[in-house]
Amino acid sequence: MNETPNPSVMSWHFEGWDPANLDTPSVQNLLHGAVGPRPIALASTINLKGQVNLSPFSFFNVFSAKPPVLIFSPALRVRDGSSKHTLLNVMELPEVVIQVVPFAMVEQVSLASSEFAEGVNEFQKAGLTALPSLKVAPPRVAESPIQMECKVLEVKPLGSSGGAGNLVICEVLYFHVAREVILPTGSIDPYAVDAVARLGGDWYTRSSMGLFQVEKPVRTCGIGVDALPPWLRETGCLDGNRLARLGNQPTIPNPERCREIFKEQFPDCSFDPQSPEGRRELAKAMRQLLDQGRTEHALALAMISSGAAED
Ligand SMILES: Cc1cc2nc3c(=O)[nH]c(=O)nc-3n(C[C@H](O)[C@H](O)[C@H](O)COP(=O)(O)O)c2cc1C
Repeated sequence: MNETPNPSVMSWHFEGWDPANLDTPSVQNLLHGAVGPRPIALASTINLKGQVNLSPFSFFNVFSAKPPVLIFSPALRVRDGSSKHTLLNVMELPEVVIQVVPFAMVEQVSLASSEFAEGVNEFQKAGLTALPSLKVAPPRVAESPIQMECKVLEVKPLGSSGGAGNLVICEVLYFHVAREVILPTGSIDPYAVDAVARLGGDWYTRSSMGLFQVEKPVRTCGIGVDALPPWLRETGCLDGNRLARLGNQPTIPNPERCREIFKEQFPDCSFDPQSPEGRRELAKAMRQLLDQGRTEHALALAMISSGAAED
């Protein structure tokens, strides 16, 4: 993992804004930059005339597993406060298919977000293929490896002027998942899906790039960063991620084990482990041990540095 500043020792220089004093595009700009990457729902809907609509929404996420609930939010147009076609459609016919957007189709999806006139089918405009759904009327997008057929439980308006969101609360009735993106464990393979997500401005990211794993915290609850010798945080010699890895250890090794590990790491030790030079040496070794996944060893050196493992 890259070196990142330790938030416990660095200080930011803040600007501040009260949204009440900003115009809507400026608030949008802050929100889009602040809350990201955001997953993208590619929503297909249909009105009572049978006209199909397809549009992306990045104000989107999952909120419940039982029932399985997704929410996305078509906002009233900032320009004139009018409703987007997707919103009008789900009010007429409360059904939607939400598809995940892989990198391979991101530019088609961006094209589908154009303000085409009412009744224009964005499947055709974006060159995407409509497949019939099993449980709902709107069609699915064949190019997406994950398609979720939903009924709309509720539409919750958040305001009445341009920029106001409308929460479209959807229950998934059926999942279609391409076999090619399912791992032998049954989980979905983020590399194979390669979903895109949106940030501020024109920025996107994709799930196959820069993936890394963080183990879930130990079930028994770790010792916590506050159980570590304070000098480790105060000097910033370990960044926040490495401190957290130590704090996630279930227990502190006993003094004897700490001394054993210390001797193993420094067989010919010629420094005082509690002196500033000694602590610098220990911190270097701890960083290496942590990066090798030998967290217990690193924690033992931390305890030695504080004198907690003395006879
Ligand atoms: C990646 C992406 C994400 C978007 N997310 C949203 C969103 O969350 N809410 C929204 O109102 N518009 C969003 N838009 C803009 C809509 O897609 C756009 O207004 C579209 O024309 C709406 O289509 P409709 O009127 O056919 O429903 C997004 C556009 C893109 C390209």
